[in-house]
Amino acid sequence: MMKVRRSGLVTLLAIESSCDETAVAVVRDDEGLGEGVRVLSSEISSQIDIHREYGGVVPELASRNHSLAMLPLVRSALDKAGVSMSEVDGFCATAGPGLASSLLIGHTAAKAMAVGMGKPFISVNHMEGHLLSPFITRGNGVEANVSLVVSGGHTMIIENRGFGDYELLGKTLDDAAGEAFDKVAKMFQLPYPGGPEIERCASEGGDPGAYSFPRSMLNKPHFDFSFSGLKTAVLYTLSELDTASGKPRAEDLPDLCASFQKAVIDVLVAKTMRAVDQVGSRRLSLSGGVSCNESLREAFAHRCAGAGVELLVCSRHLSTDNAAMIGYVGIQKFIRGEFSELTVDVDPNMMLNALKMR
Ligand code: KG4
Ligand code: ZN
Repeated sequence: MMKVRRSGLVTLLAIESSCDETAVAVVRDDEGLGEGVRVLSSEISSQIDIHREYGGVVPELASRNHSLAMLPLVRSALDKAGVSMSEVDGFCATAGPGLASSLLIGHTAAKAMAVGMGKPFISVNHMEGHLLSPFITRGNGVEANVSLVVSGGHTMIIENRGFGDYELLGKTLDDAAGEAFDKVAKMFQLPYPGGPEIERCASEGGDPGAYSFPRSMLNKPHFDFSFSGLKTAVLYTLSELDTASGKPRAEDLPDLCASFQKAVIDVLVAKTMRAVDQVGSRRLSLSGGVSCNESLREAFAHRCAGAGVELLVCSRHLSTDNAAMIGYVGIQKFIRGEFSELTVDVDPNMMLNALKMR
């Protein structure tokens, strides 16, 4: 594809609808250099309350609610940004990975607006959005770093050498870290989504050393993860506790949550810091929903300070699913002339483009 660096003001409207959050953002790059990107608005309509009663995301409900939320959210994102539809230079949307029926709503809406307004359409990978989210508010463009992306669907360590030049150093071989949080929370009969619930219970005086849960593959030389053994260990521990209903007693919950959380964090921190060391990077970024976890942030901050590594984390509303991160990738593609054909489809299993395997 032709790569033309464009200069001058660029304003994009971005849509994210890969799972259960409908999100629309308006982002602007005043100089068109991909560095000083400003988020003019970032609207999110959460469906958590709708899916909570089912203990997880119900795809049909997600898709229907994306349809209902989409246009009002587009209007409010434009209003809050103080931007009219005709001032938008291009439209971008998440194409994958995610739920097909959810992706289709946002992707098709952005295409339709692009056609209607005669402007370019840009298809964006959700994981590239997470990967680059720590750079949105820094104003320096995408800087080389080692990145830990920890979401509900992925756990990856990536060497990021600059926009579009990524190398996968390690990934989970089974459950993603967020998925492990959600599944263990379900065992504890905590509400969906489980990550924030586990963190909340752990913070109620939980002792991270109370239970000794496994740290899978901690000392293996590679950068891959496995969380399914940890999940099973929690299940066994639960079955040994004296619980008639299968639900842990309220007094056991903080220790269980803190011990589980610490087991996940120990592995994430150890492997990622080893990757930073091996690459010789002086910069580490954290992104994805699990990176909202305060204990995880503290553990990384501590290790990075000791190692003289700069730690990049974004605000919590940019860490979980949002459209500003999709707009940020959209701007990077727009200024390089990387527009998408209108025939491009969503891809629920989309891999990160240009992601090389080591
Ligand atoms: O990035 P994200 O919003 O969506 C995906 O792309 O998956 O991540 C959602 C995941 C869920 O598994 C959720 O439980 C987890 O992030 N999460 C957390 C916390 N906040 C969200 N996990 C641990 N601690 C948290 N505070
Ligand atoms: Zn996500």
